[in-house]
This record gives sequence, structure tokens and C-alpha cells, in this order.
Amino acid sequence: MCGIVAYVGHREAAPLIIKGLKRLEYRGYDSAGIALLNGNGLKVYKKKGKVADLEFELQGKPLTAKIGIGHTRWATHGEPNDVNAHPHYSQSEHLAIIHNGIIENYASIKKSLIDKGYTFESETDTEVLINFIEDVRKHKNCDLEEAVRLALLEVVGAYAIVVIDKDNPDQLVAARKGSPLVIGIGEDEYFFASDATPIIEYTKEVVYLDDFEIATVNKGKLAIKNLQNQEKGPFIQTVEMELESIEKGGFEHFMLKEIFEQPKSIGDCMRGRLNAETAHIQLGGLINHLEKLAKAKRIVFVACGTSWHAGLVGEYLFEELARINVEVEYASEFRYRNPIIKEGDFVIAISQSGETADTLAALELAKQKGATILGICNVVGSSIARLTDAGVYTHAGPEIGVASTKAFTAQVTVLAMIAIATAKAKGTIDEGEYRRLLSEMAAVPQKVEEILKLDADIKDISKLFTFASNFIFLGRGINFPVALEGALKLKEISYIHAEGYPAAEMKHGPIALIDEDMPVVFIATKDSSYEKVVSNIQEVKARKGRVIAIINHGDTEVKNMVDFAIEIPTSHEMITPLLASIPLQLLSYHIAVLRGRNVDQPRNLAKSVTVE
Ligand code: F6R
Repeated sequence: MCGIVAYVGHREAAPLIIKGLKRLEYRGYDSAGIALLNGNGLKVYKKKGKVADLEFELQGKPLTAKIGIGHTRWATHGEPNDVNAHPHYSQSEHLAIIHNGIIENYASIKKSLIDKGYTFESETDTEVLINFIEDVRKHKNCDLEEAVRLALLEVVGAYAIVVIDKDNPDQLVAARKGSPLVIGIGEDEYFFASDATPIIEYTKEVVYLDDFEIATVNKGKLAIKNLQNQEKGPFIQTVEMELESIEKGGFEHFMLKEIFEQPKSIGDCMRGRLNAETAHIQLGGLINHLEKLAKAKRIVFVACGTSWHAGLVGEYLFEELARINVEVEYASEFRYRNPIIKEGDFVIAISQSGETADTLAALELAKQKGATILGICNVVGSSIARLTDAGVYTHAGPEIGVASTKAFTAQVTVLAMIAIATAKAKGTIDEGEYRRLLSEMAAVPQKVEEILKLDADIKDISKLFTFASNFIFLGRGINFPVALEGALKLKEISYIHAEGYPAAEMKHGPIALIDEDMPVVFIATKDSSYEKVVSNIQEVKARKGRVIAIINHGDTEVKNMVDFAIEIPTSHEMITPLLASIPLQLLSYHIAVLRGRNVDQPRNLAKSVTVE
């Protein structure tokens, strides 16, 4: 949440920062701003709305500067408006700051500053922080880096910040705790951003700042130290990301592009790891943990949102194939309980961004309590990936659309591979079943390709449901989480109220909602609960509900019973979520577009939830 970009070097800072903010807009888009420093001083421009609104505001302004900071906001303290937008000046207007995170003890710091005569324009915790830094600098008579360090020692909360100083146009000070910050290292230039996407156009050499570290660029030199004032050599890494992967590539929206990328992203996720011909799975990241995982008494998945739904699919996979007891926990709940962790327990975080604050905190707690902690992340080098003992990257490529699509199917692909490999190591599946699962997995990209050909048909169905007020999604067994995910996708991008339920639960309450205006989406593939789901469909039809069913090719029984059928290829039951989720993504996408929603940036949401 919130995207930050900063630059110091020989290029014009303003266009570079604006372009970078557009790349980070998925992290927050309720206001944006930029501060530029040049021979004429330090100037802040900011505006409620999107980065494009800021860009419009900047037309005709003198923007020449080789150093600057920019921000796109997802509001935490104070409503989205021009005043609360970042950057924030200090009271003397000598310093300016951008901040991603939350300063939890801002109220007490603010009170002590007010007692000293400071006044505040905005309602933000960030304006408090920059004045606190200024106050420390004044009273300790120290340089900016030291003032930032001393101030942060007093701060409780999460932050990625960059500060610039009117009196020192060659200097920029950044710090992080709990919110991501990547530093790009070019030729006599440095880029700072919440992720690598604004940077890769200029350099692939990056440093991921760690928690409690401060990075200072002064007269072209980068120095990193921790809050205890100990110097640290920068650990420079090369990012693999290509520019095309963060552009729309001819699609109307990132979400549609990402839905259509799934044959490739699922294939990339399995590449070099799963070989159906040689009947082999090798997950490099788990090489030293597989044997222990096979002996695990219990696995706990911690995650949020869509990643939590992937965890639920994982529960069915691990219990059915590897016979391991699994619990799936909302990270936000797990972290505030006193969870029981026993020897031999594995806690596995699932997170696209690898930065979700609740998931990170849940994992830290599990580590303290002695669990082996693993991660399933998409963003390479992310905080969760770095905290865990080991893990498996999903390799889905950057996901820019706020609603998760390809990251979900990649998470499920990884979970299926780990479950199959664990089951093999444990001997809970025989050789025949193992080989069958591997060849079914290998066939998924081709089957997803086939499903994507139904796009126009699904769009036609969407037209008939564009103005529905409610939706119910029902599935059973391993397709119950698919129903939950279908409902989440629809509500987050179309703002239609939608509920996901296990199909059999319908008669315990939700059936009261069913009438001729209620669309009900069933996942009714030919699996072990097929007959039961067919009965549930009849119960809905008997009450005049309008049914859209995801069925397998050639299933005339259900096709003749329902209003609309979307036919997908058959597969092993444990693998159906990878196929059944695709038509639901397309259904949500088209309904949202037809309702005129901004599908890539739905209201109130942000891609990477780095606050609790
Ligand atoms: C929904 C969605 C969110 C995320 C959730 C966790 O489409 O994207 O529900 O799944 O915020 O994010 P990560 O996976 O980055 O931890």
C-alpha cells in the first residue's frame, strides 16, 4: 500500500518519477505527489486522484531537477485529499518526505511536537514524522542521516521513507522497517522504489534494503547502516524481470492480460521442476526440507485473501495425497492468538507480494515459537521470501492487476507440486497415481489454453448478469475454495455482493436468498461430489434460481438442467481448481468491465497490503 519512488543522478527526475509512480499505482491510487529539489529550492506538488491527475496538474510548471521523491497513496490516516497527499514538508519547508506504512505512536509524538510549538496542516502520521526528524536535527545539531536514525529509534510502526533536504541537493536518506524498499544502482545515479518495476528500465542491479536499515546517497556515493549506526556493505543482486512483463501488451487491462498469461505462468511455474516423462519432481527450494515435510505432524498455512483460498486448496491436496493434517489460518487472526506450535510443525506462508503485513507477522510469530517456516511467494527477494527457512517461488511474473488471477493459479500449482512430491516421499500414493498426477499437471497449460477460447461465450453470459445485485458461488470438496475465490473476484472488481459457500451448506441458510433474481454459480465438474452437487443444483432450480454451471465437456445431464453451462476439460479431481477458476475470473472481469468499473484499480483496494 502506497508506492514510493525517488531518484538522484544525472537525469531529469520528474518524468522518471511520474513514470515510476504509474508502475506502482497498483499499490494505492487515491492521491499522488512529487517533491523536486533544484537551484531554486524544494518544491512539493500534490493532488487528490490518480497519478494522471497529478501529471495534468504539473503541466507548465518548472520541473527541472536531478533529485526528487514521489508517492502514490492508499490512505491510512486522513481522507484522500490534496493536503493529506505526500510528499509532506517539515514545518520550515526545509525537508520533504514520502512514506509507506503506519507510524503507530504518531499521536504521542505529535503531542510533544505541538507542546514545542509545531503546527500541522494534514491529518497524517507522515507529517508528524518529518517534523520529528526536523526537531531531532535541530536539537541534536546533527546531519540529516543521523536525525533520521535517532528519530526512527523512537518510532513504533512500519515505514519505508525517503527524505530530501533543501540545503543539500546531493543527498537523499531512505530507511525501512516492515515496508519494502528497493534501491536501483545505475552509473552515477540511484533509484529508490517500493518494488523493482520503476527501476528495471534503467538498471537491473538492485539492493533490497532490510528492516532497520538506513541508506544514504551523498555526492554520488551510497552508504548503508543499521539503526545501531553500524555500517553494512550493500548486497547487490540482479533482477530478472523484463520490461514487457510489466506492460499491457495490447490487452485492455492488466487483469485480462494476466488471465490470458496463465498457460504460460503455470508452465513457467512447473518448468525445470516437474517432468511427466521422467516421472520426476524437483523443487530446488525445498531440497533440504522434503524429507522433514513428509514426516510433518501438521502443516499450517497462513495467508490473506486470494492466497488464503490457495491455502484452502492446499489443505485438500495435502490431506488427500500426503495424509498430513493441515490448518489454514487467516494470518491476521493467527498473529494475535497464542497459537499452539509443536515440534515437527511446518508453518507455510502463501503470498503473491511477499510483503503482506499480517502474513509476515504471522510467520515471525511462528518462527519465534519454533516452527519450520516456509514461503510460497511470487515476488523474488520479498520480505517473506527472505524471512523463511526455505520456499518455492511461484514464478508467475509481475502481477499488476489488483485482483489476483495468475498468482492464484501459480500458488495452487506450487502447492500441488509440493503435495505430490511429499506424498511420493511418504509413500501415500502409489507409482501409478504419482505418474497420473504428473501427467495431469503437465497437461494443465494446454487445457487452460482451451478454456480461454471460451472468452467470447463467457462475455455473452456476463451481459445477462451485468446488473445483478447479488451472486452465490457454490462448490464442494477441493472446488469449495474455488467458489470462495470466484465470489471474492466478483465482489472486489464489480462491487456486486457475492458469497461463496460449500454447496451443501446452502440449505442451512443461504437457500432463503434464492429466487428468480439470484444468479448461482456452481462448480459441477465430474468428481467425487458430482452427484451431490447435481442435487444441490436441482434444489436451486426448484426455487427458480438462475444457474451458471462450470461442467466437464459432454456433461449433458447438468447442461440440460441449468441456464448456462461453461464446459471445461476433464482432469484429475485434485487438479480441477486450476481449470475451474479460469472461467470465474473471466466472468468477473467481463461483468466488471460492462459495469464500467476500473478493474485494474478497484476502489479502496491496494495490491500489497503492508499495513495491518
Ligand atoms: C484479491 C487479492 C487479495 C490478496 C491479499 C494477499 O484478488 O489480491 O485478496 O490475495 O491481499 O496478498 P498477498 O498474496 O500479496 O499476500
